[in-house]
Amino acid sequence: MSEPMQTSKSRELYERAQAVIPKGVYGHYGPAVIDDGPVFFSSAEGARFTDVDGNSYIDWMCAYGPNILGYNHPGVEEAAEKQAADGSTVSLAAPVMVELAEELVDLVDGADWALFGKNGADATGLAVMIARAATGRRYILKIQGGYHGSAPWMQAPGNKGTIAEDQAFVIEVPWNDAQAVQTAIDAHPGDIACFISSPYHHPVFADNELPAEGYWAAVEGACRAAGIVVIVDEVRSGFRIDLAGAHVAYGFTPDLMCFGKAIGNGHPVAALAGSDELKGAAGETFFTGTQFFNAAPMAAALATLRELRSTDAAAAATETGIRLGEALTDVAAAHGHELRVSGVPAMPYLRVVGEGGSKFHARWISECIRRGAYLLSYHNNFVCTAHTDDDIKRTCDIADAAFTALA
Ligand SMILES: Cc1ncc(COP(=O)(O)O)c(C=O)c1O
Repeated sequence: MSEPMQTSKSRELYERAQAVIPKGVYGHYGPAVIDDGPVFFSSAEGARFTDVDGNSYIDWMCAYGPNILGYNHPGVEEAAEKQAADGSTVSLAAPVMVELAEELVDLVDGADWALFGKNGADATGLAVMIARAATGRRYILKIQGGYHGSAPWMQAPGNKGTIAEDQAFVIEVPWNDAQAVQTAIDAHPGDIACFISSPYHHPVFADNELPAEGYWAAVEGACRAAGIVVIVDEVRSGFRIDLAGAHVAYGFTPDLMCFGKAIGNGHPVAALAGSDELKGAAGETFFTGTQFFNAAPMAAALATLRELRSTDAAAAATETGIRLGEALTDVAAAHGHELRVSGVPAMPYLRVVGEGGSKFHARWISECIRRGAYLLSYHNNFVCTAHTDDDIKRTCDIADAAFTALA
């Protein structure tokens, strides 16, 4: 095993960044700035990226989800470049927007229309607005620890820059607790506009949890009975569980479906898809942005969706994720550790349990990063279709060396 990597150029850039950018690297990329790990990349290809110091990593974070077909995918890049050459942000909408909506409606079960923005929060924010427009109600029912973006109402109470009133009409219930959903509905009769949730629970710093048997059916039933709009937030999980939507795998029918991240394989585009019943309300809800009509990212998304479909990508990433989880579990066991793998296989949350707790786990992940396997300790990881069995084997060798280093 080679010596752990040097990251001095990343550190130099990070210092420069701190002078001119608050926190240097902010948002969700901020916590990844570990003591001596990489901070800035120089290039990416397939399932790997290279940092500014020239170190190469097998990337199990996939840019926090967008990379689903491999970085720099030829078909996706060609589509985006061709559209960019013809024009991207022009004074009229591009035909590719219609094609993309048609493709998404065809692919996603229960989707009759689509609207496009840039980030996942555009889709989730629009979804609750449409629900309020359609119902004339105020409250948003969500899951404790569920993340839907960075708009004030979506943030944790008490976060800097938010005020109590931002969350005044947000009710939180625990995951997998259909009775709590019913209790909340009963406590606010006729005033809950929507229930918004990811299809399974993928919080940070905690094992991820799949829906319990009958959970979604019970939640959907309670919402239908009370006239509440069901919103599934697939911004993170989209196209990694079922290409037709996770609701197909979990047996429920949402009214609105939010997508982002992987839909453009890294190109900036997000989508809200919905049922015919809400098309009128969707059309009447004000939603726009200067960059929302960029045609090149839409062309990238169209190529991505077609490639996902022709390669049965969700199934492929799931298979790879299963092999990764099993192989890493064996490596941990050989060192006397239990590795708990939770969530769905294409988005595995890893946690070394037992002695040493979360500190030991974080040190193990850090040792893996230093040796060339880019994983995160507090967030689920991601599998893309460019990951190979060789990547799994190399990751296991690295994981093995990381445990040895900590012994
Ligand atoms: C489930 C979920 N919803 C919404 C969002 C917000 O997406 P974005 O950061 O693109 O606005 C995220 C981002 O991580 C997410 O994981």
